[in-house]
Amino acid sequence: MDRYAVIGNPIKQSMSPVIHRAFARETNQNLEYDKLFAEVDGFKPVVDAFFAAGAKGLNVTAPFKLDAFAYADSLTERARTAGAVNTLALQDDGRLLGDNTDGPGLVSDIRDRLGWRIEGQRVLVLGAGGATRGTLLPLLNECPALLHIANRTASKAVQLAEDFAAYGDLSASGLDKIPQAFDLVINASAAGLSGERPQIDPSVMGTGSCAYDMVYGAEPTAFLRWAEPLSASTADGLGMLVGQAAEAFYLWRGVRPSVEPVLSMLREALR
Ligand code: ATR
Repeated sequence: MDRYAVIGNPIKQSMSPVIHRAFARETNQNLEYDKLFAEVDGFKPVVDAFFAAGAKGLNVTAPFKLDAFAYADSLTERARTAGAVNTLALQDDGRLLGDNTDGPGLVSDIRDRLGWRIEGQRVLVLGAGGATRGTLLPLLNECPALLHIANRTASKAVQLAEDFAAYGDLSASGLDKIPQAFDLVINASAAGLSGERPQIDPSVMGTGSCAYDMVYGAEPTAFLRWAEPLSASTADGLGMLVGQAAEAFYLWRGVRPSVEPVLSMLREALR
């Protein structure tokens, strides 16, 4: 049976096995999917052994996305621009392709599942860390009217905008200097992980705007609680989690699983 896994540290909490086993059942794919633990400096030997034993693919979560980037034999453009790999896929020639499905998972959740528009819209991304870097190319590929990055540390947002200048028009600022109202505001900052939200002015939310938080939890995040009365629609990142898994599953198996049933199951489990 074809073997897959997710590697991380910690790894106990990972929902990837539940998600991929559900995808496999739904699409009649015969595969095994497990969890792999590695010490923080022990990515390579664990992954060497996994693929030497005949595995076909691996999902990679914190803190190993940079290790996986270095480990891959070749990279997709979206992994290269993200600077991180969350999916390794064994190719027919025996080489390992490194991909990053986090950004595509975000875009498919917003565009396909939620039915929010990105094309032609004014899009604001909050944060300028690895999560933001991974989403910029997939977002630019959707042709927003404009894409602005705002970060607590303004210089990091400006640097990211410069790094991606070749891929499209981007602007950048600190959180306190956001120049106008937006149609879609995506919180890619890590603020929610400590129960906080990026301090931005309510005028940033345009009329009928949509607010998306890449963080998720049993309760709405601080950002979504703040955005709720200011927006037409809000959503957390649970759909992105399922979306990135669906993109990885597609890369490995060439089949697109349905995200809705798995998302409902995870939402129930979070309660
Ligand atoms: P990740 O890989 O999750 O993006 P990261 O690379 O450490 O993590 O980046 C974290 C991002 O969240 C940064 O943009 C950080 O802002 P700074 O660059 O100013 O540090 C942002 N962030 C973290 N806590 C925040 C908070 N309480 N308010 C606003 N932004 C915050």
